[in-house]
Amino acid sequence: MYSSFQLALKYLHYYVTASNGKGHGIHSPFVFSFITKVLRDKTRYPDYEKVEALRLELLKNDLEIEVEDHGAGSSLIKTKKRKISGIARSSLKSAKYAQLLYSIVKVYRPVTMIELGTSLGTTAAYLALANPEAKLHTLEGAPAVAELAKDHFRRLSLANIELHIGRFSDTLPGLLGKVDAPDLVFIDGHHLKAPTLDYFEQLLRVAKSTTLFIFDDIHWSAEMEEAWQIIKRHTRVTLTIDLFFVSLVFINTDINHKQHFTIRF
Ligand SMILES: C[S@@+](CC[C@H](N)C(=O)[O-])C[C@H]1O[C@@H](n2cnc3c(N)ncnc32)[C@H](O)[C@@H]1O
Repeated sequence: MYSSFQLALKYLHYYVTASNGKGHGIHSPFVFSFITKVLRDKTRYPDYEKVEALRLELLKNDLEIEVEDHGAGSSLIKTKKRKISGIARSSLKSAKYAQLLYSIVKVYRPVTMIELGTSLGTTAAYLALANPEAKLHTLEGAPAVAELAKDHFRRLSLANIELHIGRFSDTLPGLLGKVDAPDLVFIDGHHLKAPTLDYFEQLLRVAKSTTLFIFDDIHWSAEMEEAWQIIKRHTRVTLTIDLFFVSLVFINTDINHKQHFTIRF
């Protein structure tokens, strides 16, 4: 994992070198439409307030829960006590990025969605609220955290979310065997090179040409950046859009040659 200083430098580099998305250098109609309809969508949907009220409450909740740490890739499960407020501060996608995912769902209307890493469920709530007709399968390895997420989904009356508790390596293969090909996948857990590539390959086997993959934090560490380079080179990947804290992967758009964009967001 990079230090905060290294990450800040990387972000600065991204910010200075990324395209501002105002047309210059963006010759793809698909990407241009993504920028105008999704990235620059400034609508404040009423759903935002519902999830942000929950986030605020979680940020103030100093209750401690036992959390199993699956992210380190160790076969020994380490458990530690963590405040709910601390989890809300460090693990959840911020409002800005969760709302970006909401806009993506509003525009592309995915029907089957999969999220790896539920945590307290705020981003899952955004995904589910954006299309009540869709079904979201969200996977979480820490049971106490998952139980809280379940309660949050109940409180927000979100009947279109199914939460799968267990390690991704245990829950993902079974899930992929029984659900329709996903339209949208958000990979936001187990931020290590080998597992990230493994989940990507498993998901690619069931993906369809329109499946959109969204990766969290691919600049978080040197090994995540290595995974990102491998993903970009993958033969099935046709288009990538790097927004630094989240990155999008399209596997078969109407573009017949690979294109990679880094866009300021
Ligand atoms: C960054 S948080 C997810 C945040 C959530 N997507 C959001 O933005 O609201 C990652 C979650 O993935 C879970 N996780 C990490 N590695 C896992 C694994 N191998 N199996 C199951 N869960 C895992 C962690 O317990 C943690 O709650």
